[in-house]
Amino acid sequence: PIINVTTRDGRSKAIEGRAGRSLMENLRGGGIEEILALCGGCCSCATCHVYVDDEWLAGLPAMSDDEDDLLSTSGARAENSRLSCQIPMSDALDGIAVTVAPED
Ligand code: FES
Repeated sequence: PIINVTTRDGRSKAIEGRAGRSLMENLRGGGIEEILALCGGCCSCATCHVYVDDEWLAGLPAMSDDEDDLLSTSGARAENSRLSCQIPMSDALDGIAVTVAPED
């Protein structure tokens, strides 16, 4: 599945992702190093924060309480915030568009 990502400098890039890995792993694998993912994907660092384009939001797995709590600690939280390590990529998400959230 293709992931369309906009980085903090406003540049857009399309990444050929792999289903079964998280969005975070796919972004890092695609060279998006500003997704630090310091905790390695265990939902405790919030350095994998992205904004998901509205049209894709509803199709994502629901947010867990842990993800919600962690996002609440971010000053950059928006309506369309998600932690990318909590989103498994699948073919249904082919074409998803996300923007790397600002550093908090
Ligand atoms: Fe740490 Fe997602 S990688 S919360």
